[in-house]
Amino acid sequence: MSDSSHEPSFFLKHEFAIRRLHSLLGIIPLGLYMVVHLTTNASLLNGPETFQRAVYLIHSPGKLLPLIEWGFIFLPLIFHAGIGIWITKNAHLNSGKYQFTSNRRYSWQRWTGIIALVYLFLHIMHLHGGFHAEWWLAAIDRFGLGQFRPYNAGSSLVLAMNLGYGIVWPVIYLLGVLSLVYHFINGLWTAGITWGLWISPQAQARATKVCVVLGAILTVISLSAWAAAVFPSDADAVEMRAVEDRMYEAGVESGMVPEMEEKRWHDSSEIEEEIEIEENVQVSRGQEAPAA
Ligand code: HEM
Ligand code: HEM
Repeated sequence: MSDSSHEPSFFLKHEFAIRRLHSLLGIIPLGLYMVVHLTTNASLLNGPETFQRAVYLIHSPGKLLPLIEWGFIFLPLIFHAGIGIWITKNAHLNSGKYQFTSNRRYSWQRWTGIIALVYLFLHIMHLHGGFHAEWWLAAIDRFGLGQFRPYNAGSSLVLAMNLGYGIVWPVIYLLGVLSLVYHFINGLWTAGITWGLWISPQAQARATKVCVVLGAILTVISLSAWAAAVFPSDADAVEMRAVEDRMYEAGVESGMVPEMEEKRWHDSSEIEEEIEIEENVQVSRGQEAPAA
């Protein structure tokens, strides 16, 4: 009678191929996406027009966008994260694999993977919302989630960051983004071992230098993306919105931007209230003027 408890699991049987796929997806598309994504977000430092133009370009596939997001981002992420958790749980399986890696870097790779998982879940729910369905976005809007409006890109991002006294989200983002930069850059280094690119101590020392430089550049880009989203006030967001609305109207008029009101701020949004308050203040000032 065969004892099935001694049979290796599917994962163990295919460990070599699974680890290669896990490693590849961590670099392409996930690492590549992160670099482009952070650079796009950092472009807000140059003003709402620059960022808005980039977001129009990203959203130009229209109905194909969810397909691209799921095929190139969400599914690879779910696979990489799932296998990452499995590797972390079975950490002893790695003994001897990274014989050149220091223990500290080895466990930081795992800790930052766990932080990445929590951060990315919160981040995607906070801005993107997970699904584009209107009923879903309306339901989670009440909880301050799904806050990004692609056709009011800069202003909606800034307002979303300012929710919760303007401290909760910025702290979560800072921790999440820096952890992901470490995870990706240290991961590039370990991937070189997975793929047999740097095996000798000399080659590894050279790879370390290159990764430190790449890490420094990506840290600057990610801190720029963070600052661009976190530092502007609600009043700055109102000014950004005026620019974005002008771009939208001109874009629709010229046929460059498809008319999609659901991608803009809707009535219940915080920014509408902000504008209403400003208008009321102006009206009441106007009414008071003759009496004075
Ligand atoms: C979402 C949660 C994530 C979890 C739980 C996670 C987990 C892990 C773990 C445990 C490892 C170590 C694998 C090993 O030692 O063999 C790893 C490696 C790696 N991760 Fe992630 N990760 C996540 C997200 C990401 C993201 C978003 C990126 C890209 C920006 C990424 C890029 C990498 C790379 C390049 C490696 C190196 C692969 C190798 O050594 O061959 N990871 N990940
Ligand atoms: C300060 C840092 C960051 C800012 C300001 C930021 C901003 C944004 C915005 C505005 C969206 C919504 C895009 C849309 O719905 O069109 C988004 C979505 C997303 N972000 Fe980030 N992000 C940051 C860091 C990161 C990092 C480090 C990762 C790691 C890979 C990441 C991964 C994602 C993913 C997977 C989505 C959902 C897919 C998508 O819409 O493209 N973000 N982010």
